[in-house]
Amino acid sequence: MAKVSDRDQAEGMRRLFARIAHCYDLGNKVISLGQDRAWRKLALAPAPRDGLVLDIATGTGEMALDLARGGSKVVGVDLSQEMLSRCRAKLSRKRLQPMIDLLQADALALPFADETFDCATVGFAMRNVDSIPACFAELRRVLKAGGRVICLELTTPRGRLVARLHRLYLQKALPFVGRLLGRKEEYIYLANSLVHFPMAGELKRIMEQAGLSQVTYRLLNLGTVAIHTGRK
Ligand SMILES: C[S@@+](CC[C@H](N)C(=O)[O-])C[C@H]1O[C@@H](n2cnc3c(N)ncnc32)[C@H](O)[C@@H]1O
Repeated sequence: MAKVSDRDQAEGMRRLFARIAHCYDLGNKVISLGQDRAWRKLALAPAPRDGLVLDIATGTGEMALDLARGGSKVVGVDLSQEMLSRCRAKLSRKRLQPMIDLLQADALALPFADETFDCATVGFAMRNVDSIPACFAELRRVLKAGGRVICLELTTPRGRLVARLHRLYLQKALPFVGRLLGRKEEYIYLANSLVHFPMAGELKRIMEQAGLSQVTYRLLNLGTVAIHTGRK
């Protein structure tokens, strides 16, 4: 069988998010029971207030907007123009355009010179990239020495019972919400994308292997959400 190339993979991802861009924020609110905003705030607490921050897979810009509100200058990149358009509309409504530059680009081949950014963030998107190690290596490349990576992502909880209940929740709730939004198949993909995603301890090791130091993580929401941070 022909191997799916990285380019095909990225194109598939771009198309999937193009189809759900219009309902992405609403879907997030419903699926996280309104908690996603608080998780982002906690994740971004260690981000520098006055630095230049890269937000990869910025989507509709929820992380980027919080960073800009905190005083950071932000560059947001995403594969999907449709997600970026939603972000642009928010920037203009909230008059935050001067704080955020947006660019269509692949997080695995960032169009920036080495050592450009003070901090790099990724929210709920590490499980969508084709290669997690390559993505962290690319983030490390564009960070200045001492710069911080912050990764907020769903994770599989450790206890067997909670893990089962969480899987059940994702596999029932996401397709249900997807059906209400008219995008059931896309939300089934999003539920399944956690199945092969590394557990929090393994993700920490991957970050260390990518050359990041002082890697730590914090679990939220009964261990179903993880915030990983590391330094270059
Ligand atoms: C689940 S959304 C997360 C959006 C946002 N970060 C948030 O916190 O809500 C995932 C985003 O990752 C983007 N994406 C997936 N793979 C990517 C890649 N290789 N490079 C850049 N963006 C990517 C998708 O287009 C989508 O907008």
